[in-house]
Amino acid sequence: MEEKKTIGVLTSGGDAPGMNAAIRAVVRAGLNSGFSVCGIRRGYQGLLERDIFEMDLRSVSHILERGGTMLYSSRCPDFAEDRNIKKAIEILKEFGIDVLVVIGGDGSFRGAKRVAELGFPCIGIPATIDNDIACTEYTIGFDTAINTVVQMVDRVRDTSQSHDRCSVIEVMGREAGYIALEAGIACGAISILVPENGPLNIERDVIAKMVSTLRTGKQNFIVIAAEGVGHAPYIAEKIEQLTGVTTNAVVLGYVQRGGTPTAKERVLATLMGEKAVELAKQNLFNCVVAIKCAKVCHYSFDEALNMKKTLDADLLRLSEEVSV
Ligand code: ADP
Ligand code: F6P
Repeated sequence: MEEKKTIGVLTSGGDAPGMNAAIRAVVRAGLNSGFSVCGIRRGYQGLLERDIFEMDLRSVSHILERGGTMLYSSRCPDFAEDRNIKKAIEILKEFGIDVLVVIGGDGSFRGAKRVAELGFPCIGIPATIDNDIACTEYTIGFDTAINTVVQMVDRVRDTSQSHDRCSVIEVMGREAGYIALEAGIACGAISILVPENGPLNIERDVIAKMVSTLRTGKQNFIVIAAEGVGHAPYIAEKIEQLTGVTTNAVVLGYVQRGGTPTAKERVLATLMGEKAVELAKQNLFNCVVAIKCAKVCHYSFDEALNMKKTLDADLLRLSEEVSV
């Protein structure tokens, strides 16, 4: 008879709504497929500190609807050192864990890839509100984050409209403009500023369009800026100076990372969690679960980490065409 295998699961890097749905799916699908499942708290840091516990079907009750991660998350600079990766592998073996499922972003996958290179089987599930993991169309957390941004901007817009003002909304995304682009289209922003377009040129990227739009009679404006482009208070000050329109700044910050996951988020995270278990069942390791053409698939760590992702040119064009 084949020996019962154990999955270890952790969440790492920035938290994202829907991580809990993925944990739940890994635990429930894992147990239903005959694995034991261990939870590892606080990502790689908790692994190095042996913060590991056995999970059962009820360990993941009532987490589907909660933001954050019941396993907690962390950034663990010590994981940059080979000796700590080796120590992590020894600890995984000590707890009888046979495969490690890492729910996180690119950085977390780079850590998992190094664990895999030293011979320990790993599987990644992409989770970050930034949606900037190249191998997948969708990362856990993105849908909830953009819906949160849209709700917040709709509220700010009421005041912008009542008072004929401009509001500059700073959203998350140090290096990626996915949140800014999709939320900006959904909110009808006059300008969407993304880091992928290079350094900010306020005249070209905002003022020219605002001035021509003012001539058509519109007097209130929403500008969405990804944090990587520049800070909203600076952009707002410049807009007010150059157009004369009273302009305020709103920095949304961590409200975007928390909150109840959307239904779409829960469904996709559940699909991805189950896929990770399916891969483990088939002894397919050292890969990342992904969504391609709305279907779940997987790529090797090497493939996944070498892919490049660019903003959808059609969406960029669309935002230019209709927000006038
Ligand atoms: P994310 O997974 O959201 O991209 P980070 O980039 O902060 O978040 O990475 C999360 C953690 O993954 C880091 O704190 C570190 O422990 C681990 N990690 C990141 N890059 C590497 C790497 N090159 N080698 C080993 N571990 C890494
Ligand atoms: O989760 C992604 C993200 O929110 C980025 O958009 C942002 O730049 C970064 O994480 C900030 O995370 P922290 O404040 O935890 O370092």
